[in-house]
Amino acid sequence: MKAADYVDVQFGAIDRRIFWDPAIYERELEQIFARSWLFVAHESQVAEPGAFVTTYMGQDSVIVARGDSGAINVFLNSCPHRGNRVCFADSGQSRAFTCNYHGWAFGLDGGLKKMPKMGLYKSTPGFRMEDWGLKAARVAEYKGLVFATFDPDAPSLDDYLGDFRWYLDAVLDAEEGGTEFLPGGATRSVMNCNWKFPADNFVGDIYHALWTHLGGAEPTLGRHGGVIVDNEGSYQVSVNGHGWEFNDSFLGNAATMGDRELLRYMKSRQDKIAARLGDFRMKMWGSVASATVFPNFSFLPGYFTFRTFQPKGPTKTEIHAWTLVPKTMPDDIKDRFRRGSMRTFSPSGMLEMDDGENWEHSTSANAGFVTRNQKLCYAMAPVAEQVEEGLPGHVTRGQLSDANQRYFYKRWAEFMDAKSWSDIPLAPRTRVPEAAE
Ligand code: FES
Ligand code: FE
Repeated sequence: MKAADYVDVQFGAIDRRIFWDPAIYERELEQIFARSWLFVAHESQVAEPGAFVTTYMGQDSVIVARGDSGAINVFLNSCPHRGNRVCFADSGQSRAFTCNYHGWAFGLDGGLKKMPKMGLYKSTPGFRMEDWGLKAARVAEYKGLVFATFDPDAPSLDDYLGDFRWYLDAVLDAEEGGTEFLPGGATRSVMNCNWKFPADNFVGDIYHALWTHLGGAEPTLGRHGGVIVDNEGSYQVSVNGHGWEFNDSFLGNAATMGDRELLRYMKSRQDKIAARLGDFRMKMWGSVASATVFPNFSFLPGYFTFRTFQPKGPTKTEIHAWTLVPKTMPDDIKDRFRRGSMRTFSPSGMLEMDDGENWEHSTSANAGFVTRNQKLCYAMAPVAEQVEEGLPGHVTRGQLSDANQRYFYKRWAEFMDAKSWSDIPLAPRTRVPEAAE
């Protein structure tokens, strides 16, 4: 059976087995996670030579390290000698990575530098040090976000993101001077859910906010949050399976953090951001919105929480989350963002806990044989191939819909069934110029 058969994107019916079947999960690791450009770090996390973080690409543990030349390197965190994990720290500063087991030492580019009794290896015909480094990935950046892929045939990151970069600029380029992740590392939590439930929630499920989050949003925003139900100003945009839904409300998400000082500050930046990005993207900066870069990198404008949904099995996901801010933001305001995003979207945040409970039950229900053979309904509103002047990608405007989620699962099926990258269509780029890989 082809993956496309599990996903009726025209009508909007999705086979539940893609959320629990171990064989489909194993195939996702190969077809999606070993192939895609995956977010691995913000450059501010590895600002100096020797700085490193560890993360995952699919279930592959990787080290992200800034080398002496200033280039950022990404390589497997598993020793090619007997396979031991090389680095156990989440982040740090180092000149080399030395394996605990027999002492093989690797440089900041992952290359094998030395080991005890090195002469015995060098005396073996055909042994070359350069063949036994930590396997390196391709690395590319977009405005501070560092992505990597293990697929030598993947297109450039610019092509992979395509015109979605034009939308990404609403959070990455709103202020001069670039962005940073607030220091202090990630919050990490584990949810017993399939990784696609959170990814599809962020790509286009504003619908749930009216119900799931009402208890949390009402005290801060009033009934229905006011802006959330403004259909006229609601958009869903999708490019290459990446999706962003938003309501052009400027401060909608930010308002739920309940910090007037923070909102006053954001308001004071409104004209400057509009001058830089135009009125439309200015309104996306803090609005009621959420987005996913395919497959598992998501964020919420307004709270500026950025997170990866790391797959840990068909029914387990580890969430790593950070807060992104413009570098030029005053320290006091950065701290208010830290506290605001923790209050709302952290493992103990009043909004994130609501989501997690839903995703876990959506997953665990599939333990039942009859249940797991039913379909899920993604049929809210027909997907209209709208062309909105000035807006790149597929645009659905003025209504709640499952459009972005359907594009997400269309992309999922394209990856799952593709024999090579030539089977995976890429939308032409029209907006943002080429950046160097
Ligand atoms: Fe790493 Fe032996 S397993 S040095
Ligand atoms: Fe939510």
